[in-house]
Amino acid sequence: VMNKSSVTEVKTDFLIIGSGLSGLYAAIYASKFGKVALITKSSIQESNSYWAQGGIAAAINSDDSTEIHKKDTLSVGCGLNNLDAVNIMVSEGTERVLELINQGMSFDRAESGFDFGIEGGHSRRRILHALGNETGKAVVDFLSKEVQKNNKIKIYENSFVIDLFSDSKTCFGCLVFSDTKKNKISIHSKSTILATGGACGLYSQSSNPSSTSGDGIALGLNAGATVKDMEFIQFHPTVFSKEGAKNFLISEAIRGEGGQLINHSKIRFMENYSKQLELAPRDIVARAIFNEMRMNGEKNVFLSLKHLKSSLIKNRFKNTFELCLREGLDITKDDIPVSPAAHYMIGGIKTNAGSQTNIKNLYACGEVACVGAHGANRLASNSLLECLVFAKRAIDSALELSKKEKQIPKKLIEKAKKYSLISSDKKVESYLNYRISLSQIINNYVGILRNKKDLLLALNEISSIKRKNLDEFDLIDKRLMNLKSLTYLITKSALLREESRGAHIREDFSSQSNKWLKHINWKLTNGTLRFSYSKQ
Ligand code: SIN
Repeated sequence: VMNKSSVTEVKTDFLIIGSGLSGLYAAIYASKFGKVALITKSSIQESNSYWAQGGIAAAINSDDSTEIHKKDTLSVGCGLNNLDAVNIMVSEGTERVLELINQGMSFDRAESGFDFGIEGGHSRRRILHALGNETGKAVVDFLSKEVQKNNKIKIYENSFVIDLFSDSKTCFGCLVFSDTKKNKISIHSKSTILATGGACGLYSQSSNPSSTSGDGIALGLNAGATVKDMEFIQFHPTVFSKEGAKNFLISEAIRGEGGQLINHSKIRFMENYSKQLELAPRDIVARAIFNEMRMNGEKNVFLSLKHLKSSLIKNRFKNTFELCLREGLDITKDDIPVSPAAHYMIGGIKTNAGSQTNIKNLYACGEVACVGAHGANRLASNSLLECLVFAKRAIDSALELSKKEKQIPKKLIEKAKKYSLISSDKKVESYLNYRISLSQIINNYVGILRNKKDLLLALNEISSIKRKNLDEFDLIDKRLMNLKSLTYLITKSALLREESRGAHIREDFSSQSNKWLKHINWKLTNGTLRFSYSKQ
């Protein structure tokens, strides 16, 4: 058994935490300017980006423009988008995507050029996809090959970040637990970039892998960073939903190609909810499905593709065809049982257009960050675009603002030594039980339709986990506290926002209110989570 206080020390110029699209892109770009440490809690091939299906939205088709893309993004975002962030995302996004293509990333083509797809809320076909609907896998594989052969990038796999070194003003790096070597590593860096992804794996029904557990948001919060918009959890309308089977995403792109939603009476119901039918923005589709399920007392509705060409289904959506076949369904003939599930965390660590947080030398990009590009609801396939744009910006800011190395304060080094990496089996078991019960609580009470009664019930359950029995230097207890903070933030923010806007829907406050054209910000101050409101 290793000595509790022994810590291996490493120095780098750029510390990147997370290996989804933002992390990989940031690592490759940063390696042109200095030494990079890339940390991932599993392997560099596993991330939420990897599972992205729809694709990357970018205004490069001849009938499209960044102005139209901006308009669609704003219209779905319901008044809470940050205009600067949207402008930057749609315009620099096309540059980043074209660069990727020039570097050899191949997106699917049709006879006349790219085979642009369409999803809810888009007024043009502008979604680039790869390997049919395995876009995330294609892009992540493409970039991870680059990362693996780049000798400026040191990859730490199976390495869990315990804490950021922060005195609440400046970040100096992080403390890592390496599961491979069973040791603690202190990484001292000029700049730290959080690219850890979202938190929707915390919901018991989710399109995300359970590893998408909001670790980076908790790291930021514990380091003194401001976190915002946590009430805005986007639910994907169509996740495979069959008793006893795993949930997996049924891409919106399938509705883009003509897939129809029907209820248990075989009736196509979207015409009762929106003129845009199955291609209405996803909050509208998700709510309509939820309503049909509730009215009919059913656990799902169906997506029907029977009227589509079977060659289209088998080629363009090969992966979905095969996954459903494994569950005993031939989707060229059988309807797919689907229901909404948690999909994307719109909120996160507050950043400016340069991906800077309020803590010096700490940057955040991708789903862990909240730069404001999505407002109250994200337009489908805008997230991979956001990753590319704001990962580059994080590194550009670091180059400009994080040139000098700063000593890690002694106090933080002493604290790092105290962490114990070996928790009792009893603690591990109790953590896993808490995680399951919290995931059901937020799923059932902080879901697609919210109300005060349910939210108070959820808050009560969350606060029954008592801090006083927990040891902050025990890794498992620390994860439990993080889980508690995240579920609390999501629930309390949902309770505070007494209106319905975008992805946040209150049954007891069913309309949008101008009073709520503002954001809920959170900070951990002296051990207490406090909120304030802001215009941006
Ligand atoms: C999908 O393929 O439906 C997901 C696209 C997205 O969430 O952006």
